[in-house]
Amino acid sequence: MTYDIAAIRSEFPILNREVYGRPLVYLDNAATTQKPLCVLDAMRDEYLNANANVHRGVHYLSQRATELHEQARETVRAFINARSSSEIIFTRGTTESINLMASSFVEAFMKEGDEVIVTEMEHHSNIVPWQMQQERRGIKIKVLRIDDSGQIILDGIDDFFPPKTRLLSICHVSNVLGTVNPIAELVRKAHERGVPVLVDGAQSIPHMKIDVQAMDCEFFAFSGHKMYGPTGVGVLYGKEEWLDKLPPYQGGGEMIATVTFEKTTFERPPLKFEAGTPDYVATTGLARAIDYLNTLGMDNVMAHEQELTRYALEELGKIEGMMIYGQTHPLSPSFEGGEDLPHDAVISFNVFTSLPSGGIKGGLIHHMDMGTLLDRLGIAVRTGHHCAQPLMDRLGILGTVRASFALYNTKEEVDALVAGIRRVSQMF
Ligand SMILES: Cc1ncc(COP(=O)(O)O)c(C=O)c1O
Repeated sequence: MTYDIAAIRSEFPILNREVYGRPLVYLDNAATTQKPLCVLDAMRDEYLNANANVHRGVHYLSQRATELHEQARETVRAFINARSSSEIIFTRGTTESINLMASSFVEAFMKEGDEVIVTEMEHHSNIVPWQMQQERRGIKIKVLRIDDSGQIILDGIDDFFPPKTRLLSICHVSNVLGTVNPIAELVRKAHERGVPVLVDGAQSIPHMKIDVQAMDCEFFAFSGHKMYGPTGVGVLYGKEEWLDKLPPYQGGGEMIATVTFEKTTFERPPLKFEAGTPDYVATTGLARAIDYLNTLGMDNVMAHEQELTRYALEELGKIEGMMIYGQTHPLSPSFEGGEDLPHDAVISFNVFTSLPSGGIKGGLIHHMDMGTLLDRLGIAVRTGHHCAQPLMDRLGILGTVRASFALYNTKEEVDALVAGIRRVSQMF
């Protein structure tokens, strides 16, 4: 199929709007993506024509809503190539998926002094839930460090896993650096020691084909809203044999088999982990977003975004005083991969003002100033620590400007970003 960018953009009417009298250039996709009409239409249609609570009703509407909800589970299963749809737990997002793990996994498999390994580039949502368990249950957190080029230091990793390691919990792609971590290798290393792996896939699933069986991770978490679906829905994938052994996360309706005041028995997964009324309209929306991605083809999406990222790196690199963080991008000096190296469409940077003498870097233009002034030009980027303060500490900065691309972005938008940065830089 040809990648018809005009047709694609027409599916996302918000992209046609103006802000401050200028055309919107939306480059904050790592925070959340815009939604295509097919997703919005499907959700509206469900509220208009099939709205009823799922699972418990004998009546037509409830059965129709249940059908849509369970079809959505099957759509997610096929998208990530899980073995069974009972391995797909619907949550509110990546954050809730990881919190579920921190609560249930620690309860089932960890005791005081046991360790979970994370990396220095994690989002707070893969740090704080473990810290809460550290406080409550005395588990320990061990941190895999990164090198100056933003890659996990694999040297000496064989000695890294302490004997009490119970879980490796690691992001697939950094939401700041765009680093694509060598998950297959890390999973293999972990498995050699009998350690299961939880992958935070929030920043990989919108950009590349995910096959959880090929990856062989035990758990994989992601959010619907970062992949063109609605907010409020996400997924925790877990291998069936592991989910069977985990205790429920929350209690209530939907997740029980029988209840008396003396004792409750639970449903099997996935319902065991889905207490209360699920956001069944959002799951339909997520399924339509996946259908949409499938229609475009993940390979085509990836090729488009990869080209855009290469172009952006090339053009941004020409700006005087530009500092781009993370070195796994194809154009970086350490890039050794081929054309098809998976990348993530995230670029974090800061700009230094140049001194009249040239050569030496002047002061740093504060990321907030850069972001605020770009916004006035209609360009939406994210600024700050990106929920990764330990990574900012490692980089020795308070924050960055982050431009992140989606399947609907264009080279013209990259040009607008570059022109905008040049214009702002001249003000300092
Ligand atoms: C790598 C990563 N993990 C987790 C999250 C949390 O996702 P959510 O806020 O959708 O739960 C994000 C969001 O930016 C992320 O980038």
